[in-house]
Amino acid sequence: MCGVDGAAPAPGDVAIRALGPGDAAGCDAIVASLPYHFGDGHGRELCAAAVREQDGFVATAAGMPVGFVTWRPWYRAAAEITWMAVHAAERRRGIGRMLVDAFLAELGPEIRIAVVTTLSEATPEPGVDDGYAGTRAFWRGCGFEPALDPAGWWNAENQAVVMVQALGP
Ligand SMILES: CC(C)(COP(=O)(O)OP(=O)(O)OC[C@H]1O[C@@H](n2cnc3c(N)ncnc32)[C@H](O)[C@@H]1OP(=O)(O)O)[C@@H](O)C(=O)NCCC(=O)NCCS
Repeated sequence: MCGVDGAAPAPGDVAIRALGPGDAAGCDAIVASLPYHFGDGHGRELCAAAVREQDGFVATAAGMPVGFVTWRPWYRAAAEITWMAVHAAERRRGIGRMLVDAFLAELGPEIRIAVVTTLSEATPEPGVDDGYAGTRAFWRGCGFEPALDPAGWWNAENQAVVMVQALGP
């Protein structure tokens, strides 16, 4: 479990705190550093709105945002991670895991199911070395398992997979 709001930062220079209005431009810059993963303009707009409206955490290094996660509640017992990214220059340092740990630690005991949606393995990414297979591996490493590929959620070219994690005892 990582530290939140003043607890010991790890790794090294990275701290996690609640996302605030002043972080929005920094989050936009993180998204801009990931042109493959955030290649869809509508998706970028939705993400930009989420970092301005939804609850979340931001990871900072030297005071600058280097990663973020946003979420929203659904039914009484479920919470969904809506958007998440770590700056291209800061990936694979453990920052994403810190953000997910912070999200999970924030949830009340009534929340029994955490949900995230990403690109399904049913959507091929030919010739892409750094695509959504890595993202799915990240989510599996954080305890999420693929549950269903709902038809028609996104568009004909991009099939979504809903990944879930059961929480609590
Ligand atoms: C996915 C993402 C948020 C993960 O953040 P991160 O800080 O890079 O991830 P971490 O360093 O915390 O990774 C933790 C572990 O997850 C796994 N993992 C992370 N990225 C991976 C990848 N690309 N391929 C395979 N495994 C990966 C590894 O087991 C890793 O541990 P290790 O580095 O010791 O092997 C980040 O890479 C990112 O912003 N990707 C592009 C945008 C995106 O996919 N957002 C999520 C949309 S649903």
